[in-house]
Amino acid sequence: MDNRKFLRVLDPYSGVGTSAISLTEMVRDGDLSGAAFYGFESNPFIHFVGSTKLKASQNPSCNVLRLAQKVAATVLKGNIEAPPPPDLSTFKSDRFFDQSQLKQLLCIREAINIERSKGSGEIDLALAELCLASIIEPTSNLRRDGRALRVVEKRRSTSAIQLFLDRANDIQNDLPSSSSKVRGRIIRSDGRSMTEVDARYAPFDLAIFSPPYPNNIDYTEVYKLEGWLLGHYEDSQAFRAQRMRTVYSHPSLLRPDPLPSEELTISQNSQLESVISPVVRALPQDQYLQARTRMLRGYCLDMFRTLQSVNARLDENGRAVYIVGNSVHGHAPDNVIVAADIIIAELAKLAGFGVDHFEVARLLKRRDVNSPILRESVVFLRKAS
Ligand SMILES: C[S@@+](CC[C@H](N)C(=O)[O-])C[C@H]1O[C@@H](n2cnc3c(N)ncnc32)[C@H](O)[C@@H]1O
Repeated sequence: MDNRKFLRVLDPYSGVGTSAISLTEMVRDGDLSGAAFYGFESNPFIHFVGSTKLKASQNPSCNVLRLAQKVAATVLKGNIEAPPPPDLSTFKSDRFFDQSQLKQLLCIREAINIERSKGSGEIDLALAELCLASIIEPTSNLRRDGRALRVVEKRRSTSAIQLFLDRANDIQNDLPSSSSKVRGRIIRSDGRSMTEVDARYAPFDLAIFSPPYPNNIDYTEVYKLEGWLLGHYEDSQAFRAQRMRTVYSHPSLLRPDPLPSEELTISQNSQLESVISPVVRALPQDQYLQARTRMLRGYCLDMFRTLQSVNARLDENGRAVYIVGNSVHGHAPDNVIVAADIIIAELAKLAGFGVDHFEVARLLKRRDVNSPILRESVVFLRKAS
């Protein structure tokens, strides 16, 4: 008899699919008899990455290299006219893009579309688009640097086409040769509510997630080049609407003060106030005070809603684990560390969890701060009976 466990896993912020892929590897290595995975991701490009990786792992008969070679041959023949660049000013400036490299990127996209119209397999097409997305930053004069895209000098010796083929080769080599018995998918929707995973789904054994950290990283901004070039945004309104759908972990858009929230009871609102007010009171009194206050109050509400949604979907013996980083706000000597690991643990207790233990995954470094609280933590929760 097979005594290994079948595990049902939920990830409300599945991003590029680390938890999903780790699960497929555990099943493939024989640590589990099988698994079901449901993830949520709101950013269209990040969702595309995670979802393509999971699908490719579930259906390993992909041949992205062969498709990439066809695409490269079509582009090199020179019969494709480059379509106009996306309607984002970054693509139109020579400062950010060498326009001949950008043309190659656009021709690659066009050649992938030609293969789509000829009926190539969906997963191979998605993997080819993934190769294209992965060479946008290296062919530009920009570098993703935490919260922003920065202009950098790059010495370039490899053409966009060659980079594209190299990526296809790497992905082909990385693809598993056998399929993993993992059911499920990553849903492009809101991890705070997870409404699509409703009572029709069996309860989950484990929720494992890394929510956005309250550290000002705006994922919509940081991955905008890939999102626009792959056609995930129709116009700037769609781009703005996407920003509004994200967890309040960055103040790039000043949203209304979310607390008290109509979605919560009076008692829940006052419990959330008591968790977040001491943090807000400690914030530096500078020009960012209002933006930081709104962000932290919004973050508190978003994390509470996430924990409630997770709790409702767990089996009575279910566990949850989250990984989060604390962050520094303001400048010395008035800076403050926002301990997201502790804030979320306090909210977890209000949402029906017991906190088992904390583990420090790593200490984070900042030039002007040396504190054991500046850390990334793994926090283990169990559903309270
Ligand atoms: C810390 S990252 C997750 C990392 C993830 N474990 C991975 O493997 O990439 C947080 C993710 O939450 C996503 N996110 C932000 N707001 C969201 C929302 N309302 N619903 C679902 N995902 C959201 C971000 O786009 C980002 O990909």
